Amino acid sequence: MRNVTTETITEAFLNYCSPETAPRTWKVLESLVTHLHAFAREVNLTHEEWRLGLDLLKKTGEITNDERNEYVLLSDVLGLSSLVDMINSPDVGTPSSVLGPFHILGAPDLPVGGDLKRDNEGATVIVSGKITNPEGDPISGAELEIWQTADNGLYSNQDAGQPDYNLRAHMRAMDDGRYMFTTVRPAPYTVPDDGPVGVLLHATGRHPWRPSHLHFIITAPGHRTLVTEVFPSDDPYLDEDAVFGVREQLVMVYEEHSDPSELPDGLAIGRSATTPFFTVDFDFVLSPETP
Ligand code: BEZ
Ligand code: FE
Repeated sequence: MRNVTTETITEAFLNYCSPETAPRTWKVLESLVTHLHAFAREVNLTHEEWRLGLDLLKKTGEITNDERNEYVLLSDVLGLSSLVDMINSPDVGTPSSVLGPFHILGAPDLPVGGDLKRDNEGATVIVSGKITNPEGDPISGAELEIWQTADNGLYSNQDAGQPDYNLRAHMRAMDDGRYMFTTVRPAPYTVPDDGPVGVLLHATGRHPWRPSHLHFIITAPGHRTLVTEVFPSDDPYLDEDAVFGVREQLVMVYEEHSDPSELPDGLAIGRSATTPFFTVDFDFVLSPETP
């Protein structure tokens, strides 16, 4: 097409693409470029702003390595990761939430009732609940991956002071869907803000804090894998999560106790928790696998 104008350039782009383009590639690219062009027209994008955007992407690439993916973080703080999560979440069951960059494979097995806290500083929390289908029936054969920060707001793979796999576990739930473990109360923490994503956050008056949370991946035969996190109701950052991961159904309530006789039966720590300790009851609902 000759005489391309601001109005016809989108159509020109689409005409240049081969009609043999795979249908899904076509659909995604057509929409992406249409929105991209519309965005540039809408804001009258200047050369300087366009270069600034490209420079952000360049710096994002420069800081990205095997341990740190700044592109994922960029997607997280723009709300895109959570939007994709929500678009792909089934209508029934516990909502999914961001995986984050700190999950690692190979966490050690912990039996139901086991102690994840061990020597970690901080208040003891007993987390328990059951894994059911949307009808409320327990699911047998469910497995949980659990990971969280220590009391200092750091994951074991960010902190040389923590043993490998600290506060990480793999658990096989009971046949009646029940799970239970003792752990330390996690702390709020900041997403990495020493790179281009930090510059973006600070330029828009945003802070990098996430509310404290426990991460879970829950799998069970015949059910969709659930990647999610749960957040305490009293966390100061609950309504301003830097990566938009909080959903109402993922908010849990810590109940405070000061009497060790109120510890549930079946814990590896017996009745030995320091007081006050906290209990949390949180059930997960898995949706059936779609064929
Ligand atoms: C996390 O929850 O571990 C996390 C999620 C997104 C960005 C950074 C950390
Ligand atoms: Fe996290």
